[in-house]
Amino acid sequence: MKEKARAAPLFQVGLDGMRLPTGAQLGRLRKKFASVPALRLPGLLSPDLCRYLLEQIARFRFLADAAYDRPRNFKSPEVIVARTLSALLSEPTLCEAVGAVTARRVRTFSGVFSRHIQGGRQPWHGDIVKGQARVAGLAVNLSARPFEGGQFQLRRKHSVRPLATIPYEDPGDGCLFEIDRKWQHRGAPVLGPAPKILFVGFFYSGDAAGRPGIFRVEPARGSADAAS
Ligand SMILES: [Fe+2]
Repeated sequence: MKEKARAAPLFQVGLDGMRLPTGAQLGRLRKKFASVPALRLPGLLSPDLCRYLLEQIARFRFLADAAYDRPRNFKSPEVIVARTLSALLSEPTLCEAVGAVTARRVRTFSGVFSRHIQGGRQPWHGDIVKGQARVAGLAVNLSARPFEGGQFQLRRKHSVRPLATIPYEDPGDGCLFEIDRKWQHRGAPVLGPAPKILFVGFFYSGDAAGRPGIFRVEPARGSADAAS
């Protein structure tokens, strides 16, 4: 992975620990999130963790039996890696910091790997599920190659113009966004042959209701809940 000169990430989860914002930085992030509830988190996953995950993802088969809504094969690498990464992102100090940014209580995280290819369509959606205490969504870029299009977009429900359009520039870059009835989001269409691969999921104020696994947005399947 090419290392660029970038500002030190405010949030960074690595194999040997994590970096979190200071109290003053959290205060600034909270104000920013209150204004537009979609926040770029460059370098959220450390380069060493990204390298490990990209090696794992290269072996994923993205099969239907490990699908997001039917994770029958709990021994598949997709599900094992998704559970491990979900556990890393559920670390209490990280959840506390995300709670400080979102001004809501956060206890845990659960996510899935998603693959989006050219021709797939994802409608605007809110990811509101009755009985699930979803506070915020998180999408992290884990694409081995740069892809065209596919930006994260957030809008006020039923408005036309996006309030935020956030590109996924490098592996490990994340996007944190609020889950609330006011908002809808989507992944813009992927425009080239390189697929967009993300780890996407939700921070919950209670027990996680998501099932770690795989979710796909491909032309034949249309689109569904949970991927961004
Ligand atoms: Fe979503």
